[in-house]
Amino acid sequence: MGRARQMLTSRSYGLIQIFYGKLFYAVKYAHNSWHKYWVVKRSIRLEGGSKIGIHHSTAFNLSNSNIIVRNGTLKIGIDFGYFDGGSYDSRKDSCKIYLVNSSLEIEGDVSLLPGVSIYGINAKICIKNGTLINGDSHIIALKNIEIGENCLIAQGVIIRDNDGHKLTTGLDNVLSNDIEEVHIGDHCWLGQRAMILKGVVLHDNIVVAAGAVVTKSVEAGNLVGGVPARVIKENVTWSA
Ligand SMILES: CC(C)(COP(=O)(O)OP(=O)(O)OC[C@H]1O[C@@H](n2cnc3c(N)ncnc32)[C@H](O)[C@@H]1OP(=O)(O)O)[C@@H](O)C(=O)NCCC(=O)NCCS
Repeated sequence: MGRARQMLTSRSYGLIQIFYGKLFYAVKYAHNSWHKYWVVKRSIRLEGGSKIGIHHSTAFNLSNSNIIVRNGTLKIGIDFGYFDGGSYDSRKDSCKIYLVNSSLEIEGDVSLLPGVSIYGINAKICIKNGTLINGDSHIIALKNIEIGENCLIAQGVIIRDNDGHKLTTGLDNVLSNDIEEVHIGDHCWLGQRAMILKGVVLHDNIVVAAGAVVTKSVEAGNLVGGVPARVIKENVTWSA
């Protein structure tokens, strides 16, 4: 009898433990979600009647940072994401916006398709009207990245103003790589899996071929491709 009661008590105790454990995690989860919601809400500034649409799968990590939308609509992970041979699904290809001491400034209508990620630390990232960034593209800024109007950034493009690690050369360890701003002009088309590296200025109406690694600035109207990218054609124009 004594043993049976003991078994019953320990089983009940176990059940109570499980119940409180689940309750504890539910409360913690609700609190974290609520906290995150307020951080994101507080960080967004909509100016001039602007709107923002965010897919609920979007992962935000914002610290002392702002997302500012001026005179337009920012869509994050909402538009249907399509590229040759596949499609992006908002439910699994979530967008990631990770900003620390940074601002993401949107001027006009901009769409970030499912799977886009934007990272900024002590940085300003500006994307202008009519620009669309396809899934699995990443913007990685430690200073300043600007993307002009009506640009089409294909799937899997990487744009970065830094190398991520310091590189020194010679016996006296001279720093060879620094953080350098990236500017992309209006109406540029960046092909699939192209890479735009630090210090690059792409002037207006440029086409970057698929898989190009762009390490030097490009004059307006050129088509560049290859690794490292070189001018392939001049006076090009493209349409969506
Ligand atoms: C950039 C692009 C549109 C150019 O097409 P095109 O004008 O028909 O180019 P061509 O086929 O005439 O090629 C011209 C030269 O560039 C070279 N070239 C073409 N694409 C290249 C690339 N991605 N990388 C390196 N070289 C390339 C060709 O081999 C050719 O070299 P050659 O003169 O020595 O023979 C095309 O090559 C491309 O990259 N398309 C993919 C675009 C994309 O990612 N779309 C996604 C939808 S948003």
